Amino acid sequence: MDFHAVCCSLLLLSCTGVCFGQELLLPERINKPVGENVVITPIRIPDPPHEFIRWKFNEISILSGPPSGITILPQYTDRVSLNTTTLALELRNLTESDTGPYSLTVNTPTDRYSDVTSLQVVEIIFGAALTGPTDDLIEDVSSATLSCNASGTIYSAEWMKDNQKLSASDSITFSNDNRSVMISPVRRRDSGEYQCTLSNPISSESATYRMTVNFGPDNVIIDGPVEVEEGNKLTLSCRTESTPNASYKWMFKGNLTEENTSVFTVEQTTFMHTGIYICMASNPVTGRNASGSHDLVVKEKGSMGGSGGSLQKMIKRSSRGNKQNRDSYI
Ligand SMILES: *[C@@H]1O[C@H](CO)[C@@H](O)[C@H](O)[C@H]1NC(C)=O
Ligand SMILES: *[C@@H]1O[C@H](CO)[C@@H](O)[C@H](O)[C@H]1NC(C)=O
Ligand SMILES: *[C@@H]1O[C@H](CO)[C@@H](O)[C@H](O)[C@H]1NC(C)=O
Ligand SMILES: *[C@@H]1O[C@H](CO)[C@@H](O)[C@H](O)[C@H]1NC(C)=O
Ligand SMILES: *[C@@H]1O[C@H](CO)[C@@H](O)[C@H](O)[C@H]1NC(C)=O
Ligand SMILES: *[C@@H]1O[C@H](CO)[C@@H](O)[C@H](O)[C@H]1NC(C)=O
Ligand SMILES: *[C@@H]1O[C@H](CO)[C@@H](O)[C@H](O)[C@H]1NC(C)=O
Ligand SMILES: *[C@@H]1O[C@H](CO)[C@@H](O)[C@H](O)[C@H]1NC(C)=O
Repeated sequence: MDFHAVCCSLLLLSCTGVCFGQELLLPERINKPVGENVVITPIRIPDPPHEFIRWKFNEISILSGPPSGITILPQYTDRVSLNTTTLALELRNLTESDTGPYSLTVNTPTDRYSDVTSLQVVEIIFGAALTGPTDDLIEDVSSATLSCNASGTIYSAEWMKDNQKLSASDSITFSNDNRSVMISPVRRRDSGEYQCTLSNPISSESATYRMTVNFGPDNVIIDGPVEVEEGNKLTLSCRTESTPNASYKWMFKGNLTEENTSVFTVEQTTFMHTGIYICMASNPVTGRNASGSHDLVVKEKGSMGGSGGSLQKMIKRSSRGNKQNRDSYI
């Protein structure tokens, strides 16, 4: 009594809840996998004698009576036992239906004490798999749904893309349980590695999926000189933004050339090589084409200020010489 008064007046603000019911204290929460056993051991129990004790699950009385003559509910008899000294309840061969609140009540000759704990019995998560589209995805056209599954009891699902948390946006929608993500339409920035993590209180597992969004070709650009001296080598090189890599064709003065790579070369130029070069890029997956063009003038030997005409200047891209065209070949 004296001790109580001291405790409560010293810790009046913080301990009112702790001071009451402190004689009987159960652990706050217990998590266990299916199939295992649990022992719910009170952290503190009132001093004996205990005239009567009762363990309840939800509102069902599992066992009760004076410690010397406990009776156990028939369906629990072969999987439950009580330590009459510690009042610990052992529950064997747990199933998910054992999840819920467990309360212990203890009557002493003077008082009645009670506390409750929460037991969660879950199946360990394993075999996590992240599935996504198997068909080619095309930017601005396709949608993608990624789904995460595993066996076990799944409490929550979390998503990352390229090691950053994936958030909802105008094109990214999560299902209510967060187990799947819909991206509609897909864009090139959605390419990357997706990871989902499925968790419950005792386990978690992750799975990944690499997604590629096909796009382009966009922005066909030809790098090369605008002028070249007769007899010198000409190198034009074509680039574009495309996934997968584009394939290239070159046209000169309206005729298709033999060249089929991104680089067009002439070992020794003649005046015949003055004209418009067109680089045509095509993406076999998106089915799209785009092209760019480049004007070249072959000049008389010695007319370009000698060998001082630096290579740097010559290969510098000229905005004058470069034109772009999407999905048309002039
Ligand atoms: C009850 O628990 C105590 C402490 O863990 C232990 O020493 C004792 O053997 C247990 N009694 C029974 C009957 O299991
Ligand atoms: C555990 O419970 C399961 C399902 O209730 C049962 O099939 C199994 O025989 C039990 N195992 C033991 C060791 O009691
Ligand atoms: C998820 O996996 C479980 C266990 O492997 C299976 O029973 C269930 O049908 C799967 N669910 C979906 C939506 O694929
Ligand atoms: C789904 O994820 C969001 C964001 O991570 C979270 O705020 C929300 O609570 C989750 N919903 C469920 C049902 O887990
Ligand atoms: C695509 O092109 C880039 C740059 O030219 C090259 O590094 C890469 O290896 C190519 N990828 C494939 C699959 O051909
Ligand atoms: C383009 O092709 C036409 C017809 O085959 C040919 O007459 C012409 O000389 C070609 N032009 C060039 C620049 O090769
Ligand atoms: C390019 O042309 C060469 C020779 O004509 C041929 O062997 C090669 O397969 C072609 N490459 C492509 C990508 O079309
Ligand atoms: C794109 O180019 C390829 C090869 O040059 C051609 O087969 C295809 O018809 C072209 N597609 C369009 C939409 O112009």
